Amino acid sequence: MRLSILFSLPLLNVASAEDGSQGWLRYAPIANANDYITVPSRVVALNVTRGSPVYTAQQELERGIKGIFGKQLETNSSVTSNSSAIIVGTLDAYRAAYGDLEDVGDLLDDGFFLSTEGLSVIIVGNNERGVLYGAFEYLSRLAQGRFLPISTMYNPQAPIRWTNEWNNLDGSIERGYAGPSIFFRDGFVVDNVTRVSGYARLLASIRVNGIVINNVNANATLLNDRNLQGLGRLADAMRPYGIQLGISLNFASPQDFGGLPSFDPLDPKVDAWWANITDEVYKRVPDMAGYLVKANSEGQPGPLTYNRTLADGANMFARAVKPHGGLVMFRAFVYDNHISPANWTADRANAAVDFFQHLDGKFDENVVVQIKYGAIDFQVREPANPLFSTLRNTSTSIELQITPEYFGQNDHLVYLGPLWKEILETDMRADSRPSKIKDIVSGIRFKRPLGGYAGVSGVGTNATWLGSHLAMSNLYAYGRLAWDASQDAEDVLQDWIRLTFGFDEQVMEIITDMSMKSWPAYENYSGNLGIQTLTDILYTHFGPNPASQDNNGWGQWTRADKVSIGMDRTVKNGTGNAGQYSPELASMYENIETTPDNLLLWFHHVPYTQRLKSNKTVIQHFYDAHYEGAATAQKFVEQWESLKGKVDEERYENVLFEQKFQAGHALVWRDSINQFYYNLSEIPDVAKRVGNHPYRIEAEKMSLSGYQFCAVNPFHTASGAMAIVTTSNTTTGTATANITFASGRYDIAVNYFDLIGGRAKYQLDVGNQTVGRWIGDNEDKLGHAPSIYLDGHSATRITFKGVDVRQGDVVRITGQANGNEPAPLDYISFLPPGIVD
Ligand code: GCU
Repeated sequence: MRLSILFSLPLLNVASAEDGSQGWLRYAPIANANDYITVPSRVVALNVTRGSPVYTAQQELERGIKGIFGKQLETNSSVTSNSSAIIVGTLDAYRAAYGDLEDVGDLLDDGFFLSTEGLSVIIVGNNERGVLYGAFEYLSRLAQGRFLPISTMYNPQAPIRWTNEWNNLDGSIERGYAGPSIFFRDGFVVDNVTRVSGYARLLASIRVNGIVINNVNANATLLNDRNLQGLGRLADAMRPYGIQLGISLNFASPQDFGGLPSFDPLDPKVDAWWANITDEVYKRVPDMAGYLVKANSEGQPGPLTYNRTLADGANMFARAVKPHGGLVMFRAFVYDNHISPANWTADRANAAVDFFQHLDGKFDENVVVQIKYGAIDFQVREPANPLFSTLRNTSTSIELQITPEYFGQNDHLVYLGPLWKEILETDMRADSRPSKIKDIVSGIRFKRPLGGYAGVSGVGTNATWLGSHLAMSNLYAYGRLAWDASQDAEDVLQDWIRLTFGFDEQVMEIITDMSMKSWPAYENYSGNLGIQTLTDILYTHFGPNPASQDNNGWGQWTRADKVSIGMDRTVKNGTGNAGQYSPELASMYENIETTPDNLLLWFHHVPYTQRLKSNKTVIQHFYDAHYEGAATAQKFVEQWESLKGKVDEERYENVLFEQKFQAGHALVWRDSINQFYYNLSEIPDVAKRVGNHPYRIEAEKMSLSGYQFCAVNPFHTASGAMAIVTTSNTTTGTATANITFASGRYDIAVNYFDLIGGRAKYQLDVGNQTVGRWIGDNEDKLGHAPSIYLDGHSATRITFKGVDVRQGDVVRITGQANGNEPAPLDYISFLPPGIVD
């Protein structure tokens, strides 16, 4: 842990219930803070125009100081040289008011200087946005008890630090897990923008400077009059926070919305149409950041329809926004989703380089090619996208996904900071010179004027913003790393913990430990060794379904058969993808011996018996990793429980529910993947765990009344491939069995399926005792129920601790169907201490 807190701060009692809506900007009181530091009593803003970021900075300082120190700042006075104040303004305004300021250094756009060393606290920015960032930095230091005086200049590493909101006009959010949109409802921009301001405030505090508000799968009716007015409203809500609005466009808008016969980017009428509508947009939003375009990808229209190049398409938008100073973020996520798995050398991972390499240097100066971090699609493990080192004469940005589409969708804790860091620190060795991704997207490495970051956020109307309290570390880390990618992911996390949960050392230790272990754990119990993902790619990307990867045109193939697994991406025998990297990386990936184990199956097709550097076989590594990962997820529950009384009740209970869900779902993942590969390869687990569950009673083996068998698909997502459901959707069933386990105290776990569209009721009885009752209501409690079927998405576990059981007692589950949910049951486990099954 970084030792940066100056004093050991006394703790206040645990705060009253918190709903998470303040995120990391809680400004919780620090007891006796006034004993440690004297903050000035006044704030002087060098621009008091309402709505200016400097004015916002003043307001935020008032709010923060009031919260932390209980002290109301005076705002209406000017300051003389011998009185103290917090002075906030642009550097120019400061100089005009007080003369020169020493030691400021060279401030870039959005950069700022913060000095707390003198009588006054001085916060100056190169522009107004920088001033606001400085105020947030000062407050963040105070809120974390960092009271040591400093005089420091802060500059961004990249000019573009945006979020992308995949919000649809109907109010839904693609890959969002936090309720409906804060921007749209029923086809239009919302009227009430309070929540938008709140979001802009959070983002400004982590120095994000742009929000693209609508889905990349864009709807052209965003451009109708009512919505254009709405855009003005949204931009007005963001402007006080120095955040510019951007929009995603549908390439076919001139035809679908404008009524033109074509959307050919080289048709002058199409060009004129875009110029005209762009003028209209800028009338409503004069400082609009620019456009984001997904073209010729996953069914979206684009220039290829007219045999024009992707650069022709991008440049058409670039011409339209240029007079207004706007940018075009053009996505490199272009690929054919109908490639043939029969073709050994076909490879979706080659698409970005194939589509964009020959266009390098052909994009207008205000175009930035936005590249997903890996060559496939936000997978749990991917090497950095080879396009980053391929484009030398084109500005690029990196697209990260804050909303964890392939990482448990905010029902599993997965802190993504370490993954992003690993990618950003990857050295692509372009021309055999240091070429870290972070230096490529900052524009430094290839001397590009533009570059930066896009984070797909998933923020919705849920009070927690992302649908989970702990997931907010990802939003926080995104902004922090986009500003300065050299920061340590754990340090950033700990700042977030302090700001979100306070100073308790155990809270810090536990949340740090859980978060830092979370990505490795998730990788372990989902997909290992660079297999990219084993989730269900044909339905929701949540639970396990390895077979869904193969034998279709999506190109996320594992090529698993009875004896071998993995994509051969070598040049000598495979798709040639390894050869898209610079020679040093290419030769490393080309050879099995030099390919890191965690990318083995990304680059090589090998037998299950292939030995890893650890000397384990691939298949045994799969088995072991799944057991290890799932075991770590069980510990998260105990770890979180140790914080009872140290975190306010509302957040404590909320997180506890999620951790219990994750622990149960990690077992579903573990058993399902292991069973699948055991069935396929027929190679047993040397530890004899796979397929062997001595503590379970399968529901289909119990005596049933009002229940019937139901085969589960995919089969390996149910224990024994089978479940039971009530005989109708309105009736009650019971499943009973005699307990043959030795008498004693057990944790009893019940695995059931919680479907969207029903809230079945269950009761568990052992002997004469009712052990518990519950409802299949994940849709309410998790805010997310991902499936209408019995499968690996809906499979859920509930555990009752410390139940006294007598051999010969009857265990009975009563299930009452509701809606679509026929009270489905998989199995019951009787777990002696220390056993997880
Ligand atoms: C993934 C994701 C889609 C999204 C697409 C994109 O495929 O599942 O929902 O539209 O990426 O980034 O464009």
